[in-house]
Amino acid sequence: MAPTVKPLTVTPLSERFGAELSGVDISCPLDEATKAEIRAAQDRWGVTVWRDTGLDDASHVAFSRLFGHVELAPRHAGNPPRFSQPELFDATNIDAAGKIIDNPNRRLINAGNRLWHIDSSYMEVRSAQALLLCHEAPPVHAPTFFADTRSAYDDLPQAMKDRIEGLTARHCYFYSRMKAGYPTTEEELDAMPHAHQPVVLDHKASGRRSLYLGNHARDIVGMSREEGRALIDELNAWTAQDRYVIEVNYSAGDMSIWDNLCTMHRAGEFDDTTYRRDMRRTTIREAGVEAADDHFTTLFAASKRAAEASGGR
Ligand code: OGA
Ligand code: MN
Repeated sequence: MAPTVKPLTVTPLSERFGAELSGVDISCPLDEATKAEIRAAQDRWGVTVWRDTGLDDASHVAFSRLFGHVELAPRHAGNPPRFSQPELFDATNIDAAGKIIDNPNRRLINAGNRLWHIDSSYMEVRSAQALLLCHEAPPVHAPTFFADTRSAYDDLPQAMKDRIEGLTARHCYFYSRMKAGYPTTEEELDAMPHAHQPVVLDHKASGRRSLYLGNHARDIVGMSREEGRALIDELNAWTAQDRYVIEVNYSAGDMSIWDNLCTMHRAGEFDDTTYRRDMRRTTIREAGVEAADDHFTTLFAASKRAAEASGGR
């Protein structure tokens, strides 16, 4: 007898953006038809959420593979990883011994995650999807916010679309950290790696276009720093309007998946000196791109403040 195929249930979280998925046990191997349905829902909704997944570290990584090549997380000398899976990024506020992080520099690095950003936009090699699994949720409001960069682009006045067509932004990891209060200077940033990214990205998975900026975006090529930043800030503020934003709250076992090429996101504020929040993330490389498996480690090794750069992405 053929195995019973359970239907995937899609429950939208807003009219155009975000959906909760259910009806499928994703801790078990999936058939190709179900995988295709999950990928299609992801392409359509930009953010999908699964509740009470039953995933552990190994099955989190295994499930992630349905989206493509799972990247290796950067490793930092002096900061031992908490997990054995080299693919898991640590998006938490606790250290390998389970203690809440109190190192002020690491806390400032984590604070950068509370600014709107696109993961890895400071790398030439873009990340296409991210799967963030909650292992421990604090007993207070501590969501992730997501903004719909495709609808934000669609709704722009035509004059702004014309103005930004063909523009390129320079993205730098430590620029967002500087904005979050991390002590560094523009001159120090100048010596750090930057990536060039289109301001308007063709989102191949949906055939739509998306605003690809966030707070790693430091300058616009061909514009003065002042003019470029004013434009970046204006577009980021446009995209962060309530009508493009959803929030996802977690209990242990819940997972959000975002298409990192058509969303920006930020971690919500909470008292992270008191409460533990254990979040682990896998990241999928954009399809068709070749790069070394450990390209993040290489990038952070090239940054002056490399050893401290173990916080958010
Ligand atoms: C990340 C991230 C937000 C959060 O993992 O890249 O930004 O809510 N996380 O933890
Ligand atoms: Mn992030």
